[in-house]
Amino acid sequence: MNIQNKILLGIASFVGIMLLVGWVAINEPARMAVFTEQWHGRSIERGAELYLNNCTTCHGLDGKGLAGVAPALNNPMFFLADNPAKVVADELKALTDQQKVLQDSLTAYSENVAQRADLQSQFDAAAEGSEERANLQSQIEALDAQIRLVDPTQAQGQLDDLSTQIAEKQAELDALVAEGWDPARDVRLREVSWNGSHEDYLRSTLIGGRPTSKFYWPAPMPAWAQSAGGPLRDDEIENLVTYIMNYRAEAEGLAPLDVNQQYKRPVDEALAGSAGPREVIGMDVDVTTLELTGGDAEKGSQLYAALGCAGCHTAPSGAAYSFAPTAGTFTRVQDIRLRQPEISEKYTTPEQYLAASIVHPNEYIAPGGSPGVMPQNFGEALTIEELRDIIAYLETYQ
Ligand code: HEC
Ligand code: HEC
Repeated sequence: MNIQNKILLGIASFVGIMLLVGWVAINEPARMAVFTEQWHGRSIERGAELYLNNCTTCHGLDGKGLAGVAPALNNPMFFLADNPAKVVADELKALTDQQKVLQDSLTAYSENVAQRADLQSQFDAAAEGSEERANLQSQIEALDAQIRLVDPTQAQGQLDDLSTQIAEKQAELDALVAEGWDPARDVRLREVSWNGSHEDYLRSTLIGGRPTSKFYWPAPMPAWAQSAGGPLRDDEIENLVTYIMNYRAEAEGLAPLDVNQQYKRPVDEALAGSAGPREVIGMDVDVTTLELTGGDAEKGSQLYAALGCAGCHTAPSGAAYSFAPTAGTFTRVQDIRLRQPEISEKYTTPEQYLAASIVHPNEYIAPGGSPGVMPQNFGEALTIEELRDIIAYLETYQ
């Protein structure tokens, strides 16, 4: 082979190799996708097996819960972004509010017209040029200005339209209620004020369990992670999360009546039992003016679970909010928080600091935490008794 041919061969094989490398590079994402899918599939399979062995006795074979035992996980109220009945009920309320405004304005209109007729006859009877007549004249003009603001035919037309819309909305709502949707409830993650992802919620529930659910279920949700004293490894917890997330497509097409057990809202049941109107502490309360001691720790424990506090705070070390764990709360407040000047200049007792942390969470941010993560509106939800109960419960964590 002469030099020229060798060079040509060299160039040809170089080009060939580059083409091959290019081809492999182009196909790499596809290969990765196939690989990821296989991995995902295997994770679901392993999750299914773990589920079968550990979870069916309480949550049912198909994840639809067991009545009176544990809630459905294969549950539209878990996966859907909104409860359709609540959405429709809110729309219905907007329409009936509008209806009321229109009806009120029509009522006011007819009253004005009647009053005007009355004034007119007084006006006609009054002596010409009298002061009374001039007075009546100006009252009539004022009424006329109000009467002109309303076009009764148009308002009546709008009312008729609204009545049709309201009837349609009501029928829509009735159909949803017949499928078991409860307009008074919100989807699960909103009911427990969880701001994170579904996966994180599952992970944190699975890791630590829900010890406090023993207060409102026959048996509590156990802790599963080895780090929390349970039987499962971290990768097994992940497989279970993947498995439950895989219910999504099916669950989103279900109605509440298709599952055997919905979530409980122990806080509501507890509150429903309390006689009299609820007087909440309010958002602007100064906690140093409140009597904060003497609460009932067991009631506080139920509230702590029901309001989703436990979901964020009862995580094992290393988990998302491990900087403010339930464990050690009282000691931490006593020995660390209250020794910081910015806190001790405002609050002198652990109860005050705890109350402020719950009602005004953004006022002081625990080191490692971020503002706005903890729900900001517990002041609108809790009565003073309930706040005391939660504080009493937290104080059992020395
Ligand atoms: C002894 C019965 C029992 C067993 C076994 C059990 N659970 Fe639970 N689980 C419950 C109860 C009860 C609740 C409801 C807790 C509550 O309302 O706070 C629950 C709640 C949950 C939740 C949270 C639901 C929510 O939206 O708050 C998840 C997720 C869950 N369980 C998954 C599992 C998985 C996965 C397994 C198996 C590894 C399992 N559970 C085994 C009883 C059980
Ligand atoms: C969505 C997650 C989330 C929920 C739900 C939640 N918290 Fe918090 N909480 C946080 C975060 C994040 C912090 C730290 C940031 C801060 O100080 O505001 C915090 C801080 C606290 C602190 C101060 C802890 C310390 O060491 O200084 C207390 C006490 C507290 N929360 C109690 C509660 C109670 C009681 C509830 C339920 C009524 C609740 N939290 C619900 C996330 C949450």
